Amino acid sequence: MNEKWKKIDQYAQQWIKEAGARIKDTFQQQLMIQTKSSRTDLVTNVDREIEQFFIANIRHTFPQHRVLGEEGFGDRLTALEGIVWIIDPIDGTMNFIHQQRNFAISVGIYEDGIGMIGYIYDVVHDELYYAHKGTGAFLNGVKLSPLAETSISESIVSINATWVTKNKRIDANVLAPLVKDARGTRSYGSAALEMAYVASGRLDAYITMRLSPWDFAAGLVLVNEVGGIVTNLYGEPLNLLGENSVLVAKPGLHEEILNKYVRK
Ligand code: IPD
Ligand code: CA
Ligand code: CA
Ligand code: CA
Repeated sequence: MNEKWKKIDQYAQQWIKEAGARIKDTFQQQLMIQTKSSRTDLVTNVDREIEQFFIANIRHTFPQHRVLGEEGFGDRLTALEGIVWIIDPIDGTMNFIHQQRNFAISVGIYEDGIGMIGYIYDVVHDELYYAHKGTGAFLNGVKLSPLAETSISESIVSINATWVTKNKRIDANVLAPLVKDARGTRSYGSAALEMAYVASGRLDAYITMRLSPWDFAAGLVLVNEVGGIVTNLYGEPLNLLGENSVLVAKPGLHEEILNKYVRK
């Protein structure tokens, strides 16, 4: 890693750990909970404060860098030139509110649209997933192994039940056979953690019909570094400036899911 990225990485790790400590400090406090687009789309004062914490630090230390953040305190981006931090201050807000676990801080740092560093920090378990393009992925400093090929019959697939019941984005019958054929299914409610779990081998695949760039920016770098494959559900590259369906899987399994269930 060159000096430029070493400096960025040092600051980023420091801010992520500090943000984690700030989130933990709020566990004893009363949250201010609001809804955004619907009754299930929640935001708290903590989501907002943590995003502002990152942005204030980035603006002060790296004034040329730009920020894309879920809660809207960053820049309005129409292109990805230069260095862009793509931040989800709390991924899994519903879990944060209801469970005080199963959420993460997600930070992806991109240069000219290319994912350079990804961090996913599971605050409660103090697990920091980290990847730097070309140097591998790590969990709390321990290098993650490259992902081996697998098949659906031996896989645990993370998928929300929404996508196999009547919904606006996909016919419920498309993915139902996949749920039957998999060894097991899970749903954790944090896209970032689900991608980190694929990268670390705890899950074999993750499928969802609607994610925003801050949900997957860090996970994309992480999964790519261990040889996993990330596309939309139709096998196309993800758009970092819009919403996407997302299919994350081990090699072999990614192809099997596309060919046997999606394109059949
Ligand atoms: C959400 C979580 C969830 C996914 C949603 C996301 P948020 O992020 O990642 O697992 O299904 O689509 O919006 O709102 O908790 O940051
Ligand atoms: Ca949200
Ligand atoms: Ca999110
Ligand atoms: Ca969020």
